[in-house]
Amino acid sequence: MNKIKGCIFDLDGVIVDTAKYHYLAWSSLAKELGIAFNEDDNERLKGVSRMESLNIILSLGNRKMTLEEKELLADKKNKKYVECIDKLKEEEILPGVKEFLQELRNEGIKISLGSASKNSRFILDKLALKNYFDCIIDGNKISKAKPDPEVFLAAVREMELKSEECVVFEDALAGVRAAHNGGMKVIGVGSEENLSEADIVIKGFEGISTDILSKL
Ligand code: BG6
Ligand code: MG
Repeated sequence: MNKIKGCIFDLDGVIVDTAKYHYLAWSSLAKELGIAFNEDDNERLKGVSRMESLNIILSLGNRKMTLEEKELLADKKNKKYVECIDKLKEEEILPGVKEFLQELRNEGIKISLGSASKNSRFILDKLALKNYFDCIIDGNKISKAKPDPEVFLAAVREMELKSEECVVFEDALAGVRAAHNGGMKVIGVGSEENLSEADIVIKGFEGISTDILSKL
């Protein structure tokens, strides 16, 4: 295969553990609505868009709402979430991520974000990571949810590369499938059990160097 010339990173769960803040904000809303919602339910929201996450929570409580009502609730959840991530600190960048990004830059490999989040720029600002990225493709630029490859194909296009020259780093199965659907290799970040469809699985970036790219 071609040499890897571009790396695309999912944000939540790959660069920073924001899942706990999404959970806090969704639990508070679910409580208000009288819907039981636990950490296992929260697993289903990973990689899923804001509105789709709300739909999952409403279905847990067998509740139906108009689009207008849902938009108000999604806004309310986001306000709570933004309050949490407003306090994000650089120390919350997952171990080894910054070093890995730096190594990619040193080697001239392009870097893009490929995330469903509409808060991605805010988060990258808080973590002082924006300068590492050649492009940022996020929920503000795309409309189709992973496993649709739209987000990653847009990143490939913006980096002016081909799919087969890029690798995606993902913590969610839907994201692994999205990358494969777009013709890219995938390195799963998390447990082998959840991400067995990925080409390689790593637990995290600690101790990982760009040598891993030649193993694909
Ligand atoms: C994904 C998260 O990255 O972004 C999901 O894994 C989240 O949990 C989605 O729902 C949308 O995020 P936001 O910040 O636009 O509400
Ligand atoms: Mg993720």
